[in-house]
Amino acid sequence: MNGCYRQQQRRRWWRRRSLLVGVALAALFFLLVNWWMLSLLEEFSFHQKATASGLFSIRSLNQLGKGRRHHGVLHTRLLSLAAHALAEGDGKIEPQELWRERSSPTTLWTPCSYKHLRETSEGENGYILVSANGGISQQRIAICNAVAVARLLNATLVIPNFLFSSVWSDPSQFSDIYQEDFFVDYLRTDIRIVKELPLELRSLDLVAIGSLVTDTDIVKESKPSFFLKNVLPILIKNRVVHFVGFGNRLAFDPIPFNLQRLRCKCNFHALRFVRKIQETGALLVRRMRNHTSLSRPLDENLVGPFASELAPKGHGRPQDSRYLAVHLRFEIDMAAYSMCYFGGGKEEEQELEAYRLSHFPALTHLKNTTRLPSAAQLRSEGQCPLTPEEAVLVLAALGFKRRTRIYVAGANIYGGRSMMVGLNTLYPNLVTKESLLSSSEMEPFLNLSSQLAALDFIVCAAADSFAMTDSGSQFSSLVSGYRMYYGSGMLPTIRPNKRRLASVFSRHSTIEWSLFERSIRKAFMQMKRTVERPIARSIYRHPRCAECMCRSG
Ligand SMILES: *[C@@H]1O[C@H](CO)[C@@H](O)[C@H](O)[C@H]1NC(C)=O
Ligand SMILES: *[C@@H]1O[C@H](CO)[C@@H](O)[C@H](O)[C@H]1NC(C)=O
Ligand SMILES: *[C@@H]1O[C@H](CO)[C@@H](O)[C@H](O)[C@H]1NC(C)=O
Ligand SMILES: *[C@@H]1O[C@H](CO)[C@@H](O)[C@H](O)[C@H]1NC(C)=O
Repeated sequence: MNGCYRQQQRRRWWRRRSLLVGVALAALFFLLVNWWMLSLLEEFSFHQKATASGLFSIRSLNQLGKGRRHHGVLHTRLLSLAAHALAEGDGKIEPQELWRERSSPTTLWTPCSYKHLRETSEGENGYILVSANGGISQQRIAICNAVAVARLLNATLVIPNFLFSSVWSDPSQFSDIYQEDFFVDYLRTDIRIVKELPLELRSLDLVAIGSLVTDTDIVKESKPSFFLKNVLPILIKNRVVHFVGFGNRLAFDPIPFNLQRLRCKCNFHALRFVRKIQETGALLVRRMRNHTSLSRPLDENLVGPFASELAPKGHGRPQDSRYLAVHLRFEIDMAAYSMCYFGGGKEEEQELEAYRLSHFPALTHLKNTTRLPSAAQLRSEGQCPLTPEEAVLVLAALGFKRRTRIYVAGANIYGGRSMMVGLNTLYPNLVTKESLLSSSEMEPFLNLSSQLAALDFIVCAAADSFAMTDSGSQFSSLVSGYRMYYGSGMLPTIRPNKRRLASVFSRHSTIEWSLFERSIRKAFMQMKRTVERPIARSIYRHPRCAECMCRSG
């Protein structure tokens, strides 16, 4: 953008923002910072280094606390009650809604964003470059938003570039994760996509000519009119615009029907994983399904030609092949950032404080200079991330049986082994990709956090049931959107209400198991079930809308 104009814009936004912030500051300061930092953190769940297989070695509950390090065991009593309940509960019938969406499907939604737009865009106005930041989920959203903006501006899109971040430390580019040719071909009738900028534009100094547009130049969720007014002139003048970041810069409403549909088409159809990821993803799903399963439309989308290998081979009952995927989001970043206490004593406090000091200095500063809510307050308000042990307690209370096969995604768990003890004790058939794959199968993915996250994505999306522990996670949102899009109402997502759970867990030292069970179930029953996408909400998470899906019945 041209410098003077940009300054003016910045000044205007700045004035507006400071006014808003000023008003909200007194009451909401902590919440704002909380929100902002969390948005930086959105993808930390993929920051997982490959751990040696057998992370979740089976140990008995008695060993809890015997280890040298004893992280966050807040609920020893509840864990042993759960263990009893699970041991006795094998004959009980599982509640139906664990494995299917709570019904009332008077309308059936089916995928239909694959339809092409009426006219093709020749992309004659110039070229759009995108450097997406963040982990795989943020990148995906940036890609599909860029597709829509390219169409809006009649521009040609250059295959997006992924910025390297020290946090995720994965140098993978678009073509390491997605099939480039498939992407270009699938969207050919809607927009023009090329692999590289034409030669004559490559030598331009984009900063000098004002073609660099960063996230500070565009307000979050800007309307299409913003791009037409502010970006189109630069594109026409310079023939090229480079967006840096671009995660959530395009609004969900109001936006023309065709652009909305194109975004859905991009997210649900045009992005296919590369063969290497499909193959290993299919291997994981096959192992999770106990080698016997039905194939679904989703399989084809996720693992391409490897879907046929997922077709029925044995004659098992459905309950022998189904599995639950759980996305656990409990890394040290998350734990430190939350400012919560997880029961690990002085050692944990010091460790998290040191982590904050080196990774979130702003937070340490805030903590030193402002009176922030105490750890206990945060916990009682449901502001703390769900710990792995709380997650399994919830699963047990909801009625998942002891023999349930559980895939745990996002496994660089803070507290490591000792934190995971409870999980494997309660659910012996609980696995991760590290325990399902041999070291030679794992080897091509080592240290590639985005590709590992892509594997998790496949196994979570294809699961018979999916549970998330953090409803704010972009990864979980993308997975649940996928399941809605392809699942015909048969692929449920279990989503916690942390505030309600917090109030149940606050009674952990006295509550009886049966009451705990009832309270947890009630907390989930009361979660609002969205039948149709609410206005202004993400189409990636809530694809049930006329632009993305067709309804019948
Ligand atoms: C893009 O092309 C279409 C059809 O040719 C035209 O109606 C529209 O005004 C163009 N938009 C821009 C921003 O150039
Ligand atoms: C796998 O399926 C077989 C029947 O095909 C069943 O006997 C076995 O218990 C299943 N394994 C698991 C872990 O569910
Ligand atoms: C915050 O206070 C602690 C001691 O209470 C001190 O060690 C630390 O350096 C301070 N940090 C900042 C950023 O002010
Ligand atoms: C992965 O990273 C670790 C340290 O971060 C290093 O020791 C190891 O060699 C790396 N592995 C591969 C396959 O690059």
